[in-house]
Amino acid sequence: MLSNSLIETKKIAADFSGSLKGGEVVAFEGEIGAGKTTFIQGLVEALGAEGLARSPTFTVMNVYPTGREPVKQIVHIDAYRLRTPEDIFNLGLEEWIGRPDTVVLVEWPRMVGEAEIRTDRTVRILAGEDSDSREIEIE
Ligand SMILES: Nc1ncnc2c1ncn2[C@@H]1O[C@H](COP(=O)(O)OP(=O)(O)OP(=O)(O)O)[C@@H](O)[C@H]1O
Ligand SMILES: [Mg+2]
Repeated sequence: MLSNSLIETKKIAADFSGSLKGGEVVAFEGEIGAGKTTFIQGLVEALGAEGLARSPTFTVMNVYPTGREPVKQIVHIDAYRLRTPEDIFNLGLEEWIGRPDTVVLVEWPRMVGEAEIRTDRTVRILAGEDSDSREIEIE
């Protein structure tokens, strides 16, 4: 899908959010500044959460309550700075992963390693022809 602006990316994210039932882990791939956090912000808003999905440079993990069902909370992880299995263990992800009322969104899943987190869906954001355009692939 082609997005020509931040607003279009958030709309695509809102459409995608409609396919989430709870229990999913979604991986976000794309270079720095691709728009992963922007997409997640659109998704979090569409699912009813009030908190903004900021680019969590220092906060590795944020939990956003939606006040709705079936997805009662969204867990947003930016794994960019995680390096060791202990870093991942310390997040306490086992509390969230696989919970039917929770969706887990992971930026930079490769930093966590495929063995630790099994992802159900992938959103890949690629640079487009100009500075505001992006190609968004959803698997
Ligand atoms: N079509 C678009 N979709 C998404 N973001 C866009 C688009 N056009 C321009 N932008 C801008 O690109 C930037 C994307 O930043 P964002 O923090 O979402 O990227 P990121 O992939 O999460 O980066 P990081 O890897 O550093 O976490 C924002 O400044 C946003 O305004
Ligand atoms: Mg980001």
